Amino acid sequence: MKETKLLTRRVGKYDPLDLSGYKADGGLVALKRALSTGFESLIEEIRRSGLVGRGGAGFPTGAKWAMAAAEEQGPKYFICNAEEGELGTFKDKVLLEGDPWMVLEGILIAAFVIGAEQSYIYISSEYEKSIELWEKLVVEAGRAGLLGDGILGSKFSVDLQVVKGKGLYITGEEFALISSLEARRAAGRLKPPYPTEKGLFGRPTVVNNIETIANVPVILANGVEAYRRFGVEDEPGTRLFSLSGDVKKTGVYELEIGSGTLAEFINEFSGGTANGRGIKAVQPGGGTSALLAGTSLGCTLTTQAIRLAGSEIGTAGVMVYEDGRSTLDIVRGLMQFYGSESCGRCAPCRIGVVRMRDIVERLSQGEGTTEDLEQLRQIGKTCVAVSTCGMGQAFPIPVLSALELFPHDFEAAIHHVSA
Ligand SMILES: Cc1cc2nc3c(=O)[nH]c(=O)nc-3n(C[C@H](O)[C@H](O)[C@H](O)COP(=O)(O)O)c2cc1C
Repeated sequence: MKETKLLTRRVGKYDPLDLSGYKADGGLVALKRALSTGFESLIEEIRRSGLVGRGGAGFPTGAKWAMAAAEEQGPKYFICNAEEGELGTFKDKVLLEGDPWMVLEGILIAAFVIGAEQSYIYISSEYEKSIELWEKLVVEAGRAGLLGDGILGSKFSVDLQVVKGKGLYITGEEFALISSLEARRAAGRLKPPYPTEKGLFGRPTVVNNIETIANVPVILANGVEAYRRFGVEDEPGTRLFSLSGDVKKTGVYELEIGSGTLAEFINEFSGGTANGRGIKAVQPGGGTSALLAGTSLGCTLTTQAIRLAGSEIGTAGVMVYEDGRSTLDIVRGLMQFYGSESCGRCAPCRIGVVRMRDIVERLSQGEGTTEDLEQLRQIGKTCVAVSTCGMGQAFPIPVLSALELFPHDFEAAIHHVSA
């Protein structure tokens, strides 16, 4: 199993602030093409490429752009989501710092296609170096005629604002991010209406993950057919997988979608488990994805195969847990994080996340009861079913999956009390 460097091929090969280095390596070809092409045929190309969002939900990018482009009433906005708050996920930073001009090229094309006159890149407050770099990049881009009025001599004008995130997990969620940009409390909202209809300041807005956007110049520069040679028929292209947990080597690896199995990926790149033990469980799609048992890692790295195995590809943040670990301990770590991240707007998530965190904590202290296990299941299922946004719909999933796959880890904690 080998890496396929489609999006990361320039990372480490040029000074990220040096536009000439980017141009010398094929940069801006896609933008120049886009500016002389109608937005409808660009949307059609993105549709045919099969590109879907890399931010977690997997929404088709061409369809999202078409919805915003169809809105007649401007102003419209484009937001590049570089909040990267999900646990076990650190792939966006590679693009943010390693090939920022490619990301900017993607942002400009997206803004052009939907007719946005203002764009934003919303960067995690933890990525201080990235924020500094992007502030300089925006100045450089303005000097080079890539931002402001009449980009590259065309009639298209757009600006880009670099925004530092608020240090909250929830601001990665698109509506919470939008509220935060509006200087309001970051909170999820019921959909519809979607941001493409009523987004930033109530205007049509597209929010895309940074990895999604990095695909755009690749697709338009080389053509859809060339792009579709990577990956599989239903899911073309590559994905950036973050690998962490109980492994000897953590890292980010770009792989063709479907190029091997989850087990092969971990074997190839992890350097083995931290203590040389077998694998007990894996979360393949970031901290809110369901655990897969170590015996079920034969699924190929596609959305469909991972779903059939019982989890989600999500943010492609693969977290490995060794034999000997209790899954109660694993979900305790997860709940300690999510337990203080609800925006508080909807009751199931606001109350449920704290209740579940406290029960898991009680069980970990050896003070839990059998009723606690049932409560965990009930509260978890309710949150998944009725929460307003993806936060409440997703945080219980690893807990529910651990309870189903490894009930003994939880029961053993109770037994310990009564013994
Ligand atoms: C709680 C929560 C946190 C999220 N965090 C991020 C994030 O850090 N980065 C991101 O790109 N998307 C994140 N998302 C997904 C966004 O809401 C949105 O779907 C995504 O940015 C759309 O881009 P895409 O279509 O290119 O994937 C999050 C969603 C939820 C529910």
